[in-house]
Amino acid sequence: MFSLCLVPLGILVLRAVQGNLTANPIEFITHATGDWTLRFLVLTLAITPLRKTLRLPQLIRFRRMLGLFAFFYACLHFSIYIGLDQVLDFRGVWADVMKRPYITMGFTGFVLMIPLAVTSTAAMVRRLGFRRWQMLHRLIYVSAVAGVIHFYWLVKSDVHLPLIYAAIMAVLLGWRVFAWFSDRGRKPARGTPVRKEPTTVAAS
Ligand code: HEM
Repeated sequence: MFSLCLVPLGILVLRAVQGNLTANPIEFITHATGDWTLRFLVLTLAITPLRKTLRLPQLIRFRRMLGLFAFFYACLHFSIYIGLDQVLDFRGVWADVMKRPYITMGFTGFVLMIPLAVTSTAAMVRRLGFRRWQMLHRLIYVSAVAGVIHFYWLVKSDVHLPLIYAAIMAVLLGWRVFAWFSDRGRKPARGTPVRKEPTTVAAS
């Protein structure tokens, strides 16, 4: 699974070595890494619904890795924007973040992923306490929604793909809300220990 998650990066490196990154390499790499950030966010959010509906508990093993790969591709995406697009002009980057709504939204999505990645270890779950950790990790939904809005705002004409992501996100969020309401309706018998699981990027 780890190697599989590195395939998009491998393809980019291969294309770079072959000089095959289209006429606008910076735009091409920015788009590819942005696309993969969003795909990994969606995959991370899909793990719990898939695990429960398909009755495949072992899927949980991949959630933290997928979440961290979303962060990894977001770091590449952001670094390429800062390093190659803005040529390390940090004032320019900040001006962009303040001025252009789609950049503001992408930046928000990225910043929200940082505490999730930092607290993704089992040691951090213990340190924060499961409840607090779980609350914090719900931020992944906000980050993913910000990513979709970022995508929607940046496309100039064909909004098909951002809308498809928005629909997938709505289904995943809807599933969560539905599961939450049905869990509340099902009260455990007295003395029955309730087993709760981490929701998002981190520990299994
Ligand atoms: C959760 C974080 C983020 C996600 C999910 C994300 C996702 C995306 C996606 C899907 C694209 C379009 C790819 C395509 O057209 O095929 C994109 C493009 C882009 N993103 Fe992000 N992004 C994120 C954060 C950021 C950040 C932090 C910045 C910079 C501050 C940024 C700057 C850009 C730029 C400059 C483009 C290309 C715009 C253009 O060519 O018109 N993104 N991003």
